[in-house]
Amino acid sequence: MAKKPQTTSPLQFIPQDYFRRLSINEIFADDKPLEIDLGCGDGTFLLEMAKHYPERNFLGVERLLGRVRGVCKRAEDAKLTNVKVLRLESKYTLEWLLPEESVSRLHLLCPDPWPKAKHARRRLVQQDFLEALRKVLTPGGEFLFKTDHPPYFEWVEEEIETFSKFNQLEWPEDAFFYPKTDFQKLWESQGKSLQALRLQK
Ligand SMILES: C[S@@+](CC[C@H](N)C(=O)[O-])C[C@H]1O[C@@H](n2cnc3c(N)ncnc32)[C@H](O)[C@@H]1O
Repeated sequence: MAKKPQTTSPLQFIPQDYFRRLSINEIFADDKPLEIDLGCGDGTFLLEMAKHYPERNFLGVERLLGRVRGVCKRAEDAKLTNVKVLRLESKYTLEWLLPEESVSRLHLLCPDPWPKAKHARRRLVQQDFLEALRKVLTPGGEFLFKTDHPPYFEWVEEEIETFSKFNQLEWPEDAFFYPKTDFQKLWESQGKSLQALRLQK
């Protein structure tokens, strides 16, 4: 039997043009503060945030289509109107698509650590990423990063020191509502702990 063609969810954000910067109201029509979850995976964090903060908008960015569809479906089932998901590569999204000074908080949680030395240059957080991040954050906007991989954490600290255009903020656990991601739960169930960093533009 022929497979039914899959329809695209209205919550999957598909840019009209991938070769120019978006304007903010192309993503969400209203003017709520925008938060981005880069590599949102199965969307556990993204959806909990969207439920908790209806006064903010949340865009998940994820390259795997199955995950994008899954997150959109769960958001639709939960009747969330402040979530969308973009299927695209994180760095491209930051460098070329997101409007300048449009993002109030950008979350990068448990990104691929590329643990082998010969692959380290594939890590997302590097000088060009930080420059693109600085452009898209609003004044006072924040970057929130977590990893279970100590060498990646050290790498990010060094990159940030070299970049030197952000202020580091304290991030005590009870500072604000911040749900655990799917990977965080997995790593913690294996006895691993995470390191976290909070920066401000
Ligand atoms: C280790 S998982 C973490 C998922 C989620 N942030 C969490 O903590 O549960 C990394 C996710 O980022 C996605 N990803 C990895 N590299 C990416 C890239 N360059 N652009 C977009 N998504 C990416 C993967 O497909 C995966 O879903």
